[in-house]
Amino acid sequence: MEPFKSFPMDSEATAKETAFLNDLPDYLKNFDRHRGRLIPILQKVQQGLSYLPAEAIQIVAEYLAIPVSEVYGVATFYNQFRFTPPGKYPIKVCLGTACHVKGGEIILENFERKLEIKEGETTEDREFSIERVACVGVLCPGPGGPGWRSGPGTHGPQQSRGAFYPHTGRKGNGGERKAEK
Ligand code: FES
Repeated sequence: MEPFKSFPMDSEATAKETAFLNDLPDYLKNFDRHRGRLIPILQKVQQGLSYLPAEAIQIVAEYLAIPVSEVYGVATFYNQFRFTPPGKYPIKVCLGTACHVKGGEIILENFERKLEIKEGETTEDREFSIERVACVGVLCPGPGGPGWRSGPGTHGPQQSRGAFYPHTGRKGNGGERKAEK
């Protein structure tokens, strides 16, 4: 396979991602060139980048000599793979049955509206991403994640309004609150 000498990365790619992708063709030589190795390869790529960018998919497809569509077909089948970079503050909204009854959909919509992204997407500055999760075993945890100051188990729809803005100084459409002491 022709090595990617100058990788056509978009401007959002970090230097770490660019380096990883440029090294990827060489790294793949550790794997047999067999389509049966596709999932372990994708897992390794995601381990390195935290997601599977289109460029990585293309490199993997070329290495295994299979169509890009086949790589996507396999990767999208498993929900362990993601195709957008996770945000610095990943927001996870539980939509299990109990949380749904307690307003999970409203919480999700609040975040989508304020961040102007949809569930499964990441803001352009990579500060926030939104993800829906199934029951995590705590009744109505509301949004959670490393940046979530109050932790899971405490947030209903009202509390989700602007609660994360103190982390970055972002402005919302009202509902912001002062940083907790
Ligand atoms: S339904 Fe949300 S934690 Fe169980």
